[in-house]
Amino acid sequence: MYKILKKDGNAKRAEFTTVHGTVQTPVFMNVATVAAIKGGVSTEDLEGIDTQVVLSNTYHLHLRPGDELVYRMGGLHKFMSCNKPILTDSGGFQVFSLAKTRKIREEGVYFHSHIDGHKLFMGPEESMRIQSHLGSTIAMAFDECPSAKAEHEYVQMSVDRTTRWLLRCKKEMDRLNGLEYTVNPHQMLFGINQGAIFDDIRIEHAKRISELDLDGYAVGGLAVGESHEEMYHVLDTVVPFLPENKPTYLMGVGTPANILESVDRGVDFFDCVYPSRNGRHGHLYTNRGHINILNAKYEMDDTPIEEGCGCPACRRYTKAYIRHLLKAGEMLGMRLCVLHNLYFYNHMMTEIREAIEKGEYKEYKKRKLEGMLEFDS
Ligand code: GUN
Ligand code: ZN
Repeated sequence: MYKILKKDGNAKRAEFTTVHGTVQTPVFMNVATVAAIKGGVSTEDLEGIDTQVVLSNTYHLHLRPGDELVYRMGGLHKFMSCNKPILTDSGGFQVFSLAKTRKIREEGVYFHSHIDGHKLFMGPEESMRIQSHLGSTIAMAFDECPSAKAEHEYVQMSVDRTTRWLLRCKKEMDRLNGLEYTVNPHQMLFGINQGAIFDDIRIEHAKRISELDLDGYAVGGLAVGESHEEMYHVLDTVVPFLPENKPTYLMGVGTPANILESVDRGVDFFDCVYPSRNGRHGHLYTNRGHINILNAKYEMDDTPIEEGCGCPACRRYTKAYIRHLLKAGEMLGMRLCVLHNLYFYNHMMTEIREAIEKGEYKEYKKRKLEGMLEFDS
């Protein structure tokens, strides 16, 4: 159940209730592709960094350890000892970005595993069955994400097929939720809008999928090589055609600035590998922009990454120490950096929610964006 609590311009402050608890939106979902947040962050750690939702992946978990195994272990929540809502991406995007030698047909996609090269097939029904085995809170529809540079004719053909795939996903999900031994019989399904940068295809597709009364709607096919302006243009164009009484999810986006701009265009859900990936390399987010902790100027810096930050790294350790840990190849260094970055994102979402509640979103966004410029290059 999705309930809008407050609107401030197009920015929405809402609550999304699931069988695994209520999510306060706008929200950032913390990426745990293979049922683990990279950088040695445990399910327990998620409590200390204000995580609300975890995101895992169908394609990766199907290859390893296998969704059958996760099902036998009682589903993904039990397997990773996580009681928060978990969203699983459908595998569509990963098949296109990771798998080798893929062939797309009406029935689905034939490809080879990126791990050991063995031959595999995934279509809408397979994706739904895998996600049902995992028992995630929210399953994503199986889609094709065409390249941002693909031509109009190809994108139209691809999006029409993605619509047919969505109908098959919905039918299969309804069947699976009704089975006796389903891990999560209340599994939700989000549809995904595609259409690259073509307004006509995006709008027609948004209208078509909005008729299906899904639990939520994602905008996919962005952050795949188009400019930030093109991405904002797609959101300006398509969000008004998605149901306002359902959550909107912008897949795989993005920088703090991208999130601030997208909230202003009505987006509720986000996910991105940036905070964890950058953290593993010592690139840290602060309210004055990002810093590289490996920089020599932090060698003897006895202050936290960010003064006043409530994350487990800043509450206890100095930049000099964290820099040393990374230089020495100690796992703790990476872990502390990832914890800080995830906290930065999650905490920014808390600030965003508070600003919308107060009706001050525009002012907050401006202040936050200006502040983050200082160290950025
Ligand atoms: N993650 C980022 N973009 C996409 C997309 O277009 N489709 C899917 N399934 N996942 C994504
Ligand atoms: Zn911190």
